[in-house]
Amino acid sequence: MLSAERIMQRCDELARHSELAGGLTRVFLSPESRAAGELVLGWMREAGMQAALDPIGNAVGRYEGEKKHCLMLGSHLDTVRDAGRYDGMLGVITAIECISALKGRRLPFSIEVVGFGDEEGVRFGTTMLGSRAVAGALDAAVLKSTDAQGVSIEQALRDFGLDPASMKSITRKKGDVAAYVELHIEQGPVLEAEGLPVGVVSAINGFSRLMVTLHGMAGHAGTVPMHLRHDALAAAAECVLAVERIARSDAELVGTVGRIEAKPGAINVIPGEVRFSIDFRAPRDELRQHAVQQSISQVQEIAARRRLKCEIQRLQELGVAACAPWLMAQLERAVAAEGIRVRRLPSGAGHDGMALKSIADIAMLFVRCKGGISHNPAESISVEDAAAGARTLLRFIETFEPAR
Ligand code: GLV
Ligand code: MN
Ligand code: MN
Repeated sequence: MLSAERIMQRCDELARHSELAGGLTRVFLSPESRAAGELVLGWMREAGMQAALDPIGNAVGRYEGEKKHCLMLGSHLDTVRDAGRYDGMLGVITAIECISALKGRRLPFSIEVVGFGDEEGVRFGTTMLGSRAVAGALDAAVLKSTDAQGVSIEQALRDFGLDPASMKSITRKKGDVAAYVELHIEQGPVLEAEGLPVGVVSAINGFSRLMVTLHGMAGHAGTVPMHLRHDALAAAAECVLAVERIARSDAELVGTVGRIEAKPGAINVIPGEVRFSIDFRAPRDELRQHAVQQSISQVQEIAARRRLKCEIQRLQELGVAACAPWLMAQLERAVAAEGIRVRRLPSGAGHDGMALKSIADIAMLFVRCKGGISHNPAESISVEDAAAGARTLLRFIETFEPAR
């Protein structure tokens, strides 16, 4: 029997593994991520799976079927800073709950449930490290990316007790995985507005991430006249507004400066150096790429006009990922069989399917969340909707037919 209460309790239990007192922050390869991973591995074993951490730190459970060919389910176990407790975790826990409900019944195909170690990219700036490793898209250069303390991914893996040299062993080839299907909270307001507990994702919007560093000149806040300053933060403020203007130029485009650091960071010092991120999303790759180009030229223009040096680093880019029509059709049959009106909707947020698309067809089931709120501790879902999501996912699994 599926238990939505247990799903909710497990989301609460996972949320206790946090580096943020009184809130939830759990980044890739942290002590908290180890504890969360261990908890999930235990639940996977209880549900009848063989489970272990893989070399990139994903929690992987396998439920053997008549054939080795597997349906991959899952989501991520890392969080943004001061996060909600359902983004990612709901998909992993619900998939485990579905396996548990199978009670050892052997299916024609095997199932793997993966709790990806990194999807948010909070620690290293580059996202989806867990699913990119599975897709064979983590090259040596990416593993050299560093966190704010200068620790590389490679080093962090070793410190965690993992062996970066064995990364290749988890790479799947196209055809190894029958499909990747992820249940996730919607993180937007559409399902709530339409009174629907679940919806089927049509495509995941593409994203581009950039990091900008502006080099000005630090100086005394009391002595340097305004016209002689090279204030990196004042320049960054112009850049933030330029990003907002660009993003507002098209209803399908969104753009965010979500992180900014000013150095040296004292009330009486003119900021000498500023670093900030830029994140653009859109349902069309050309639209997003055009916005990236515009923002680069406007940042360069602002820096030149203010006589600052600027460096712009393109951190990561993933194109629009369409869900596979044959998988959407099977998910939609499961939704309809639950007596729910079928609603297709795009995903504005990024998901692991974007990385896994190179090795398998993908699909996603969204679960309604309250007020469309996510990436916020106020993120919430109802136990009834968790139940509807779990029933739909289980029905999909039980009737799943791999593409011929
Ligand atoms: C992940 O949640 C993202 O869309 O950045
Ligand atoms: Mn997220
Ligand atoms: Mn997520």
